[in-house]
Formats: sequence, C-alpha cells, structure tokens
Amino acid sequence: MNSTNIRIPGFHKLPLNHRLLIVANRTKIDIEDIYAGVNHGGLFPSTADKIVENAIGTYALPFGVALNFIINQKGLFIPMAVEEPSVIAAASNAAKMIAAGGGFTASADPSIMASQIQIYNISDVATATQNILNYKESLIKRAAHCVSQLVSIGGGPRDLEVRTLADDMIVVHIYTDCQDAMGANMLNTIAEVVGPTIADIAQGTLGLRILSNICDRRLVRAQCLVPAEAVAARGLDGTTTIDRIVNASRFAELDPYRAATHNKGIMNGIDPVVIATGNDWRAVEAGAHAYAARNGQYSPLAVWKRVDNERGPCLQGSIEMPMSLGTVGGTLRLQKAARLALRILGVSSARELAMVAACAGLASNLAALRALATEGIQRGHMALHHRGSAMCR
Ligand code: MEV
Repeated sequence: MNSTNIRIPGFHKLPLNHRLLIVANRTKIDIEDIYAGVNHGGLFPSTADKIVENAIGTYALPFGVALNFIINQKGLFIPMAVEEPSVIAAASNAAKMIAAGGGFTASADPSIMASQIQIYNISDVATATQNILNYKESLIKRAAHCVSQLVSIGGGPRDLEVRTLADDMIVVHIYTDCQDAMGANMLNTIAEVVGPTIADIAQGTLGLRILSNICDRRLVRAQCLVPAEAVAARGLDGTTTIDRIVNASRFAELDPYRAATHNKGIMNGIDPVVIATGNDWRAVEAGAHAYAARNGQYSPLAVWKRVDNERGPCLQGSIEMPMSLGTVGGTLRLQKAARLALRILGVSSARELAMVAACAGLASNLAALRALATEGIQRGHMALHHRGSAMCR
C-alpha cells in the first residue's frame, strides 16, 4: 500500500464483511482467498489432528487488522490475532499519531541464531577451548553439511564461539544465518550432529544440544518521532502530554516492577502479529524478556524521550529487541490464516516481518503510556470490554 492513502476513516464502524472487502481491495488479494483464510480460523480439525497429538478440535481467536501503519515509508495493514479488547484499536490509534511524524523507521539484523552445545566434566577448560577453536573451520563445515538446503539459498553456519561457564563446563555456540526461517529445527539438528565431535575434542561429557532463544544477534530496531500536536491527549497540550509520557518511560527505566508491565504493553502489539503469522510466540517472549534483563536489571524494551527540533517539541520512541520469526516453515504450510496474514502484510522476508512486529510493539507501548499518563486506561478499555460482555448475558 502507498503510504499516502493509509487512512480509512470509520473502518471500525463498518460491518465485518465490508471490512473484508476493503482489505481485499487495498491488498489486491482475491476476496475468496480471504474468506478461505479466515474460515474456521484457517485450520480445520482434520489438519489440527496432523499438527499436534491428542487433538479434539481447534481454538479460535479474533483476527483483525491494525490501521495507519507506515513503516519505512510503506503503508501496511497489520494482521493481529488477539483476545484482548482495545489492543487493535490502541495500536491503530498510536500508529496514526506516529504517521503524523512520517511513520516508523525500522531495521533488522540478519537472521543469526545460536545452537548451544554444553560440555562438562572437563579437566582443563582452557585447553579444551583452544582445541575446539583449532577445529573451528572444520566444525563449521560439518555444521553446514547438515543444513545444505539452507546453505544453497545463502544461509548457513557463520561462526563458532566457546564460553566458559564453570571450572569444568563450557558451552559452544554455533551461529547460523537462518534466512527466512525461524530456524529452531535446523539449529537443533546442527547441535545434535556436531555435539559428539565437540565433546571428543574437549574430552568432556556431552550435555544439552539445543538452540538459545535469547537470539541477541537477531535484533530488530524501530524508531518514531511524533510531533507534539499529534500526541496531545484530551484536555492537555502536546508538550505536557510528551512530558508525562517521558516520565512514564523513566518509571520503567528505573523500576523493574514497572518495566515488566511496560513490556507487557509492548508484547500486546507484538504477540498478536507473531500469532497471526503462525510463529512461535513463546520463543519471541522468552527472547524479549531475557534481552530485557541482559544488563542485570530487568529494563524496558522501548523508551521515550523528548526531542526539540524545527517542528518544535517531539516525542521520540525507540525499541530494540530480539525477534526470531519465520516467513517459511513451521506451521505456515498448514495454517491458512497465517499465510493470509503474510499476504495482507505483503512482506517477503523474516527481517521485514520482524520490523512489522517491533513497530506494532512500539505503537502499543505509546498507546498504553499515553493513556496511563493522562486519563488512565480504564475508561477506553472498559467501554470495549463491555461490548463483549454484553454478548454473554
Ligand atoms: C494492559 O494489557 C497493558 C498495560 O498494562 C501496559 C502498560 O501498563 O504499559 C496497559
């Protein structure tokens, strides 16, 4: 989508079928394909039976699109699968404010992930480390051999590192570029194939062989700059609103108790994108929180500052976190709604998808902080919540 025609006033008031037509029209996806994607949540029980054990049915979530997102100058609908009322509305509303400042700027690292190989009962860790490093090149070649298809499309093992964990224990990391896959299976295969050779070289006992979910070499970053007039909350001027949001951010920077809730608000935007696109949200959550605690104190993944430029006071937001997502592999083959979500987004690579998720997180964070720092979240949240509760009566 063009970044100049992203606004669809009154979209939320339209009947559901009318919204489907607009999405079809704007994304140029055939309406039949959209129906097929959302029918039964994109997953028939017979298919679910092939994905997990002991299946007795499927479990559906609301599937919506967040509006107003401009990411690296491109307009996007953001598909979200989420049960919490107000998440999609809040992200859309914050994205509109951010669009007033030109939208999000985002970037993502190559898809580098680590396989971990634990070795213990080592009598001399320094010698073991040196011996492993002496074989680094051939170990990387061996690892490449077991993911030859990944190598053929430009990915594959890139580096090997040894970390000492105790007097008798080391862990070897083999770093692999997973390209557009999340990569878990390939990383675990590498660890299991190369592990025994490494244990022999180290003259120790082979322990665990599994990927690490912190994925701190697969970071995504997004920034935005919101002009004061766009962020002004009900009854307040823009500068006061900025000041309150900056102090809300400082609260999270200083206090891990607040940082946990602040980050939950970020994950409110990220998880629905991760789920909608058929990705492993537990992996993304594990990476996010481990990264948030990397400096010893649990910290916010996104922060907000005031910047004064030629437009006057602006609110600057930035987020940085690991993001291990795939646009191929996993359950994508079988989950039609997930394939539809990727088509709605129009992204072709895992890195692009990571940027989208990070921007959704940053928008959700802005929406939460702006509400919390001004009128509180309950008025808006409960109005939407009551809409759903009325149906249960
Ligand atoms: C609720 O789902 C999320 C918030 O608690 C996030 C936050 O406090 O920043 C509103």
